[in-house]
Amino acid sequence: MNPIVNRTTLLNHYLSERKNSSYLEIGVRNGENYFAVNAKRKFGVDPNYFFAKRALLKSWLKKSNRTQRMFRCTSDHFFLHHAAQVCEKGEFDLIFIDGMHTYEQSLQDAVNSLSFLKRDGRIVFHDCNPWSEESAQPHIPSGKVSWNGDVWKTIFHLRQHQEIFECFTYEADEGLGILKWRNNASDLIPPELSPQPSIKNLTYADLQKKRNEYLGLRVLEM
Ligand SMILES: C[S@@+](CC[C@H](N)C(=O)[O-])C[C@H]1O[C@@H](n2cnc3c(N)ncnc32)[C@H](O)[C@@H]1O
Repeated sequence: MNPIVNRTTLLNHYLSERKNSSYLEIGVRNGENYFAVNAKRKFGVDPNYFFAKRALLKSWLKKSNRTQRMFRCTSDHFFLHHAAQVCEKGEFDLIFIDGMHTYEQSLQDAVNSLSFLKRDGRIVFHDCNPWSEESAQPHIPSGKVSWNGDVWKTIFHLRQHQEIFECFTYEADEGLGILKWRNNASDLIPPELSPQPSIKNLTYADLQKKRNEYLGLRVLEM
């Protein structure tokens, strides 16, 4: 893993290539990453976000943080009730998926996000490359463990549609999954993008055996 490049560096690298960029973060928590992202328009979604007064004041040094819009709800609720009102179809240059770390929810977040992503935009997923069975378990652990969940199955699933999407994982910051439409692909979202029992039933041992193939690991050099 490259300890220097993390999610924020990569997101800002992608955004630096775009003009008047628009960004959505699903799962914001305390704004550590969200406030540090450089986009002209920013939207965040999290049912339990909490911004410390100090972090909020500091964030205002960046102009876009003064106009950012946070939604206190789940990502499903946001896409169902708010997204069409506050953003256009194809609004976002970049969407960061870092909410509920399950296969089912991260796949649903990806499907919903695709409608609001620019044709040449990118989705970045956090937590795609877990390094222990405990951190990769599909349910929120009771003890203190850094939980990646089974988001890796979403990357595996999306990689089954290579003719439509480019999808791979950078070996940095818990595994940063990247999703892009291929240039010549139709932008119809394939109906097969619903959770599959055969994928849900994959185990951590399966991942261990074929980590490179399942995730499409790449070294991130910036
Ligand atoms: C790992 S934290 C996000 C960290 C943040 N993206 C960062 O990089 O600093 C995950 C967040 O997802 C939120 N979350 C959980 N379920 C969610 C859902 N269904 N929709 C949106 N956010 C969710 C949690 O409240 C939590 O704050």
